[in-house]
Amino acid sequence: MRLIVPALFSEEIALLDWPQLKQAVASCTACALHAQRTQAVLGVGDEQADWLFVGEAPGAEEDQQGEPFVGQAGKLLDNMLASIELKRGEKVYIANVVKCRPPGNRNPDTTEALACAPYLDRQIALMQPKLIVALGKVAAVRLLGRDATIASLRGQVLDYHGTPLIITYHPAYLLRTLADKARAWEDLCFARQTFQGLMKQANATI
Ligand code: URA
Ligand code: SF4
Repeated sequence: MRLIVPALFSEEIALLDWPQLKQAVASCTACALHAQRTQAVLGVGDEQADWLFVGEAPGAEEDQQGEPFVGQAGKLLDNMLASIELKRGEKVYIANVVKCRPPGNRNPDTTEALACAPYLDRQIALMQPKLIVALGKVAAVRLLGRDATIASLRGQVLDYHGTPLIITYHPAYLLRTLADKARAWEDLCFARQTFQGLMKQANATI
């Protein structure tokens, strides 16, 4: 039987360590998405990663397996990572804006994204990644805190509470819109260059 625990306030979530965070998300009922999930999907990878990729929400396969980006879009994401010599789990962490699958794979709505925000915020605070890559509009809007199109946000180093943030297309969108694939590859090269620049800067100040 699952323990019924009272919902946590965001101030309380901001104090959790990784094991507590995992437990809190697994039993969370803070938004309507909890009702139809098989399980909540917190994220996957190195909890001290330099790189954080943020998608939208678990889909059917993610909901079953408990890991983000394991379906078709995930295969493309793995290829995108490989194109900049990164690998799932090694110096990379992958998370989503919401941790529970929206029914029918619809986009999470603003209420759901807001309800789940303290968990992603806490993941980022615990991880302290060097660079965040937002995959698609839902993640971009959530991390930036303002509405804008992907086209207007690409190719810049933006900011999430002091951590550099780069925006690119969502892999599921790229599967449908091949014409933008080359742009996504440009964005990844830009992210890699930015990351290398950040490393150089960090080394120079040691
Ligand atoms: N799409 C997402 O945004 N996240 C996943 O985990 C899978 C598909
Ligand atoms: Fe809780 Fe987030 Fe799942 Fe909603 S999506 S029930 S806020 S873990």
